[in-house]
Amino acid sequence: MDLKDQIKSKNIPNHIAIIMDGNGRWAKQKGKLRAFGHQNGTKSVKQTVETCAELGIKNLTLYAFSTENWNRPKSEVDTLMKLLVSSLKKELKTLGDNNIRLNAIGNIKALPKKAFQELSEVIEKTKENNHMTLTLALSYGSREELKHVVKEICTKVKNNIISVESIDESVINQHLYTHDLPDVDLLIRTSGEHRISNFLLWQIAYAELYFTDVLWPDFSKENLYEALINYQNRERRFGKTSEQLNKKVNV
Ligand code: IPE
Ligand code: IPE
Ligand code: MG
Repeated sequence: MDLKDQIKSKNIPNHIAIIMDGNGRWAKQKGKLRAFGHQNGTKSVKQTVETCAELGIKNLTLYAFSTENWNRPKSEVDTLMKLLVSSLKKELKTLGDNNIRLNAIGNIKALPKKAFQELSEVIEKTKENNHMTLTLALSYGSREELKHVVKEICTKVKNNIISVESIDESVINQHLYTHDLPDVDLLIRTSGEHRISNFLLWQIAYAELYFTDVLWPDFSKENLYEALINYQNRERRFGKTSEQLNKKVNV
């Protein structure tokens, strides 16, 4: 049976997040410059976005550039920003054809002007699309996001807009960059690293984690299907017992 046929349409994750890692090592293995890896990584992005839309995944969030990635050599940061602009220009049609809304999380005002403008334009042009939301995490760091949340909430308390007593999980959710997104169901990281690297710390509280050794530019449709099949074979208990979930006992 084809891998795709093994995916159960009833248990498709509502939100997949991916740490797209391994572009540099992929290029190095081929004796090429890191930029070559980033260029090829954009092909995996396109294919993954299209495959997720085809499978009916409603939310896909891609870690494209972290707050820590600003510390890379300037030439590499420039390459990544140029690739962002060219990909946005090139893939606006893909987003339209697949009825995908583009969204961004992170300190996007820190991006170079051109990247910020192109991003804002594509977000505006795709805002009515409703088949899938594609969120790009750009200049994103979870700690920076949480700092932003704390500041916003404190300001509202100080100005008597909300009370300290009213602060609950939903208030925190409303102030996150991801306020209009559901919790992450499945987090995938490529390239064999087993860490979160400051990505969506709050939002992955109950996500299923899936790590693969495949380097991002090699990440294929089949690799995505494998991750989904693996996810569908897990039991998400959310603190309960297996018996409770299978309704063998009451309560
Ligand atoms: C992921 O690949 C892309 C970004 C972080 C922007 P890397 O560039 O981290 O590739 P490796 O981890 O060095 O192989
Ligand atoms: C995480 O990858 C950030 C992105 C994929 C955009 P890194 O390659 O920057 O993470 P570390 O440095 O290995 O933790
Ligand atoms: Mg890396």
